[in-house]
Amino acid sequence: MSHVVELRSDTFTLPTPRMLEAAAAAPLGDDVYGEDPTVTELESLSAKLLGKPAGCLMPSGTMANLAALLTHSPRGGKAVVGSESDLYVYEAGGASVFGGIVYEPLTADPDGTLPLAAVAEAFEVDREDPQFALPAVLCLETPHNRLGGVPLDPGYLAAAGALAHDHGVALHLDGARVFNAALALGVPAADLASSADTVQFCLSKGLSAPVGSVLVGDEQSIATARRYRKMLGGGMRQAGLIAACGIIALTEMTDRLADDHAHAGRLADGLRDVPGLLLDPQPPRTNMVFFTVDPDSTPHTTESLIEAARARGVHLAELGRGRVRAVTHRGVTAADVDRAVTVLTEVMADTTAAPGPRE
Ligand SMILES: Cc1ncc(COP(=O)(O)O)c(C=O)c1O
Repeated sequence: MSHVVELRSDTFTLPTPRMLEAAAAAPLGDDVYGEDPTVTELESLSAKLLGKPAGCLMPSGTMANLAALLTHSPRGGKAVVGSESDLYVYEAGGASVFGGIVYEPLTADPDGTLPLAAVAEAFEVDREDPQFALPAVLCLETPHNRLGGVPLDPGYLAAAGALAHDHGVALHLDGARVFNAALALGVPAADLASSADTVQFCLSKGLSAPVGSVLVGDEQSIATARRYRKMLGGGMRQAGLIAACGIIALTEMTDRLADDHAHAGRLADGLRDVPGLLLDPQPPRTNMVFFTVDPDSTPHTTESLIEAARARGVHLAELGRGRVRAVTHRGVTAADVDRAVTVLTEVMADTTAAPGPRE
């Protein structure tokens, strides 16, 4: 097949030639002994960019989130999370399984925020009766993936942090794509991290590194999280190979995320008038476009659309409840976006691949 337009996720990005060169040239050591200078450099750089004292390289965002929750909550403690958050939906219940932590899912508003009144209620209800799970950590996600890649407003983050801290609860920020959020808001990433106790961000998404996330926070929290990383099997020996790519990700790849955001806008503009597709009404703020198939105007289903597009070389993903996600990234050019629009227009016009007229 000719060139594939890969829109399922920015995790499909491949390392850049500069990353591979840096990995080949990186000074290495045993990081479980704390002796890999390239890992140490990446951790310091990450901490500095996020305005925190310390950082710890993790194999994945999932492990970074899990280590953070284990750090902030005792067994039987409560993690207040968004019901559509990656942490709650996609991370296999790790905090509950490994940490005995009770998730309390709250419904987010369309702007990705958890209503602070509901958060306060989640904190306070159990304070009244300490025989139940005590609130230990509030988890927020920015940009919020399943809600359209929407970045959380910095004022909201500050208010949520203040509320959590007033109740003796830590704030953990899942900033898997925090540099996309910072770019969309026109603020330094450190501004988004300032009210959080810990923040995790992924090197392996739009920043194009092959592997890795970094958890940043205060020295004590990061030392504790490092021990949990070891316990979870995430201590890696010559991890400088990964960290070298991460350093290039942070020094050379954050500004170009603007291209991805522009391409998401272009894709949304191109898809808005395709008959049978219902686009999320808000223009994309970062690198994600969401839409559904309108059952009232086409015999296509989400599955038939995705399959027919795939057969024509455009890869899309369903993110649950019929929502289709298209993510732009370094591997997607403006021409690829235009190709995707053409393909989806053709697919929607060609109902032979659809399951047939509905009764
Ligand atoms: C918002 C968010 N948090 C966390 C993760 C988990 O990262 P990883 O795939 O590296 O475990 C993802 C992955 O897609 C994500 O989108």
